[in-house]
Amino acid sequence: MQIIFSTNMGFCHGVKKAVAKALESGSGSYTLGSLIHNQQMVDKLREKGITKVDSLYGVASGSKVIFRSHGESPTNYAIAQNRNLEVIDVTCDFVKKAQDSGKLLAKEGFEVIIIGDDKHPEVTAIKAWVGNGTKVVRTVQEVEELPSGKKYGVIAQTTCTDDLFATLSKKIEEKAEQVKIINTICSATKQRQQAAIELAKKADTVIVVGSQGSANTTHLAEIAAQYCPKVIFIETKDELDQEMLKGTKVLGITSGASTPDWLVQEIVDKIQGMDMFFNQDGSRKLFLGDIVEGVVVSIRDNIAFVDINHKSEGMLSLQDLSLLPLDDITSLISVDDKINAVIVGIDKDGNAKLSKVKYDALVADEKLKKAQENNEKIEAIVTGVVKGGVSCQVFGINAFIPASHLDLNKVEDLSVFVGKKFLVQIIELDVESQRKKIVLSRREVLKQEKQEHEQSLYAKLKIGEKYSGIVSRLTSFGAFVDLGGVDGLLHVADMAWQKVKNPEDILKLGDKVEVLVQKVDALNKKISLNLRDLQQDPWLVNAEKYQVGQIVQGKVSKIMKFGAFVALDNLVEGLVHVSEISDEHTQNIESVLEIGQEVKVMILAIDKKTKKVSLSIAQAKKEEEKQEFSEFLGDKDEFSNSIGSKFDLTKLFGK
Ligand code: F3S
Repeated sequence: MQIIFSTNMGFCHGVKKAVAKALESGSGSYTLGSLIHNQQMVDKLREKGITKVDSLYGVASGSKVIFRSHGESPTNYAIAQNRNLEVIDVTCDFVKKAQDSGKLLAKEGFEVIIIGDDKHPEVTAIKAWVGNGTKVVRTVQEVEELPSGKKYGVIAQTTCTDDLFATLSKKIEEKAEQVKIINTICSATKQRQQAAIELAKKADTVIVVGSQGSANTTHLAEIAAQYCPKVIFIETKDELDQEMLKGTKVLGITSGASTPDWLVQEIVDKIQGMDMFFNQDGSRKLFLGDIVEGVVVSIRDNIAFVDINHKSEGMLSLQDLSLLPLDDITSLISVDDKINAVIVGIDKDGNAKLSKVKYDALVADEKLKKAQENNEKIEAIVTGVVKGGVSCQVFGINAFIPASHLDLNKVEDLSVFVGKKFLVQIIELDVESQRKKIVLSRREVLKQEKQEHEQSLYAKLKIGEKYSGIVSRLTSFGAFVDLGGVDGLLHVADMAWQKVKNPEDILKLGDKVEVLVQKVDALNKKISLNLRDLQQDPWLVNAEKYQVGQIVQGKVSKIMKFGAFVALDNLVEGLVHVSEISDEHTQNIESVLEIGQEVKVMILAIDKKTKKVSLSIAQAKKEEEKQEFSEFLGDKDEFSNSIGSKFDLTKLFGK
């Protein structure tokens, strides 16, 4: 008899968390109700001083109480608070989701229907959270009894089967005027049920280990019975005897989410110790599918004879050793080599036919399952082009990569990948079915690498620092610059000091540019760049030519109520305030100045920060007159000496 196990069995993560938290809470703490549906586990907790109570009133104030994964009613939370109890809440996330979904539906005005078992504590707690009027159905008949034409919101007990949920939801939909369905079945339950189906299809007897009181274990037994002629539902090894397994060739074993592994192990140990596993001489019987370990003792006619600790040696042919097209078995194996293999045949004399190819496939299956579970990257080698993608090998077995998953961008010629090795991620895996399905993606790996690269780049970018990049795209509002894996936007306004109408006037696609990083928003993946600030401000360069007190020629560029703007050159412009146009009060500026008129102005102030320049026509005029008078005096020395000593010229012309 061959024993096979479900690929998904034993404690689910919700139960694991509950048990771990209970053990952590230590002796002296309580569980409200049985922590899980398994008496053996409850007994073990009691031995450790963690006691089950049925009411919070039996617990001394200040004690620790564990609220189990099934969830508790709002009333119990309130009682715990009033009684000053320390609540260790291990309500499973999936159960919380069911409670929240029910509350949401009720808030939206739906009459809530739970598909599940009315008496189950999880359902009782959900009902308490959702409120009065919540209905529970488990059969088509119960749905038929519901009033028609209502607004129904449907959720499921987390351990409900997919089939039941689909059937009853559809029936409710037919009855309701409006319906909203939220599937709250937990994913652990779905995976476990799917694995039980696969197991039941392969076995002629299935043992389901767990409590009859556990909803998820009961469902496993029901599901297995749909695919396998014989299902044995037991809680402990004591309920099993050899007679029950009579005639079984392939025995499948699975267990519920609240069944501890050690209970399953006890059952397996008991089965393996049964007489049916031994020959009359006390040697162990061989069964098809058994995995054996042995040592090659001789090689004849391309067959290796392997000592598998049995009365006769196992035989391993070249085809069962490797899939490689070889002629000579000794090119791969020698006497004394250790080998693992699967028994694929037993002749009438009890001699075993071994297969290492099958063993390698089993190992590969396990590695693939583990890689999928841990989201690991694995190495694949492309072996050829096939319809819709490429074929490849992973862990020595064949797999498929769809064309759309070969690269980040569309691949035109798939043949360029043949012979290439790269990392991939599993996107679909079914190694249990006869036709294995292993679908891989290189794109997922590249996407992840790109994201990691982007994240590290975002972390490295510093505002105000200079980076070089390549112009990757030009738009009407700016240019995108590739900074080595991430694109930043150089807005048209940040390209140059002068007004830029079209980014293409400044940059071309593929140009290498140095840019300043001015803003980084890693969350929204936005980088803002600046090219302008890396160049000297031409206004400042021009303004360098001017000093306060200097008299320069300018041209009136604009006339306002408060004064006139005068352009000193094509960049620098200053304001002549109305009070600085003339010593006399200027009533109407346009009567003394006109646009385009050349004027002499004195620079009164230059503010480089605001780029504002104050000018004065009056002061320039006064200074000019002063100059002229000085020059005149300089020509007439004597006059200058005699008059100059008597008058203070500054009083005449001002400073
Ligand atoms: Fe939670 Fe699902 Fe287990 S609801 S407790 S993960 S069976």
